[in-house]
Amino acid sequence: MHDAIKKLFGYENTDPYVYLVSTKSGDKVNGQIAVDVIGFTFLKKWPRAAIFIGKDKFTHDLINESGVFALNLLSVKQMELVRTFGMRSGKNTDKFKGVEHAESGTGSPIIKNCVGYADFRVIEKVDLGDHTMFYGLAVDSNIMSEDTPLRISYFKKNAPVEWITELEKTTKESLVKSKEFFEKYAKQKGLS
Ligand SMILES: Cc1cc2nc3c(=O)[nH]c(=O)nc-3n(C[C@H](O)[C@H](O)[C@H](O)COP(=O)(O)O)c2cc1C
Repeated sequence: MHDAIKKLFGYENTDPYVYLVSTKSGDKVNGQIAVDVIGFTFLKKWPRAAIFIGKDKFTHDLINESGVFALNLLSVKQMELVRTFGMRSGKNTDKFKGVEHAESGTGSPIIKNCVGYADFRVIEKVDLGDHTMFYGLAVDSNIMSEDTPLRISYFKKNAPVEWITELEKTTKESLVKSKEFFEKYAKQKGLS
């Protein structure tokens, strides 16, 4: 079934933008990489986005507390940020150390020289078992540079081999944690 599902959802053909999701709760600041992002632009007055954040992520806990996040669209010149923000947790390190950034209206960090950003207030959150969907209303947005947005295929093709190996390792670790969370949820929901 897994192969059929992957084909059905165009898994091999999708080539999403790579975002750095940032947030601030009290004096704690953190961010992570995310590609599972859906933007809703249909109603001009109420632009929204849904992001899907793993429950094991530090960013998850901070967005849960603060109810705010920003989406920073990374450029092809910012691949090293994928490594810093997407392959290690802010639970033990300050990922923003040495990364030039400003503060958005909601307090979330905005990365210098990213292609652009949007700043959100969470208006809904949904428990998905292993992830939470945070649904945000955009309160501000700006384009910051003309650089080419980073897509996942570009990263996989151009990042140093050691980074790809590291990504495979961290993805495997995330899978284990996702499974643990989803097993609990499946039990609660009576799923087999
Ligand atoms: C290319 C890429 C895409 C990712 N997409 C997501 C995503 O959509 N949702 C998610 O929860 N984690 C995603 N991750 C994983 C997190 O960015 C990663 O686990 C991060 O280290 C979490 O950091 P934190 O614990 O400081 O929040 C992605 C990582 C990479 C490298």
